[in-house]
Amino acid sequence: MTYQQTKQWIVDNYPNDTQIQEVAEYIKNNQVVAFPTETVYGLGGNARSDQAIDKIFQAKGRPSDNPLIVHISSKSQLAEYVENITDNAKQLIEAFWPGPLTIVLPHNGKLSPKVTAGLSTVAVRMPDHPVALAIIEAAGLPIAAPSANRSGRPSPTTAAHVTQDLDGKIAGVVDGGATGVGVESTVVDCTSEKVMILRPGGITKEELEQVVGEVLQDPALTEEEEAPKSPGMKYTHYAPSAPLILVDGDINFLRKNVLASKQEGKRVGTLLTQEHQGLSEADKEVIIGSKEYLPEVARALYEALRGFEANEVDIIYSEVFPETDLGSAIMNRLRKAAGGKILQQK
Ligand code: TXA
Ligand code: MG
Repeated sequence: MTYQQTKQWIVDNYPNDTQIQEVAEYIKNNQVVAFPTETVYGLGGNARSDQAIDKIFQAKGRPSDNPLIVHISSKSQLAEYVENITDNAKQLIEAFWPGPLTIVLPHNGKLSPKVTAGLSTVAVRMPDHPVALAIIEAAGLPIAAPSANRSGRPSPTTAAHVTQDLDGKIAGVVDGGATGVGVESTVVDCTSEKVMILRPGGITKEELEQVVGEVLQDPALTEEEEAPKSPGMKYTHYAPSAPLILVDGDINFLRKNVLASKQEGKRVGTLLTQEHQGLSEADKEVIIGSKEYLPEVARALYEALRGFEANEVDIIYSEVFPETDLGSAIMNRLRKAAGGKILQQK
């Protein structure tokens, strides 16, 4: 479907009722609308409607075997869509909702089967964003919302990113400014006794373990041969406009690689921490915060991956980050964006 015009609503953190009601009407009419959450912008549609879910998959160009996250506006709504809420799920919800944590539990069949891509489980979260919560509540519906990017592209952290990818392909976009966390929610499987991370994200393993003790990680997150338990994790993602290579080493090693590519006549881009600004010799440097403060790197990451225009550079080198705390989510996204290509300093 194409739209002559994708409608824009500009809202602040105290969204006015008329605008929110209008957006809610679109959702109730099974139209799809992008809106901000605390992580990234989501492309929302009525999770009970096959028609609305079809529109989401179509606009994104998303493979239909990749299920969507269902967004709710109160903790108590969860029980309307899942079979039974395990104790570890209850503890995590108390600790982290509203917030960037998505919980996978067996569903009870009340949502469109297209949301769950035919799986027996559903992924649900309560976002911590006043605009998202107001829209869900006004629509009075569970809202399925994947990140509002074309499939394979970096997730959007501003309404402008949504427009770059989806203008004319969706009914509307609610502009509520830049999102805060910058990487998507952590997805956890709560169907078994031990909680398992399927996708690292805004809530860290360390934070989860403080609440429920030992937390497992889907082996596919570290072992290439394993099939991921979260269908979305098997696809290429977050790709910038030129091939990306991660550089695990010091700034001199990174600079050597930059210079070698320049020797081959390539235009080179770098993703650098501010500590190394001006030191890479690249044709274009994009700064992604400081190694000392990972929340800033998470917030800057997707904008940085979108920071190279088509044909502006031929190759991009990026620094790497320690894989603890938010670093796990940052490195998961960078590895995917790089298609696994990483240079190791000897
Ligand atoms: O922060 C976020 O989670 C954002 C905002 C908009 O809420 N949403 C988001 O959705 O990242 P999406 O569709 O881009 O990613 C959803 C991830 C995919 O990796 C998908 O495979 C996984 O969640 N997922 C959904 N349902 C699942 C299920 N039943 N079992 C396992 N993984 C599931
Ligand atoms: Mg996504």
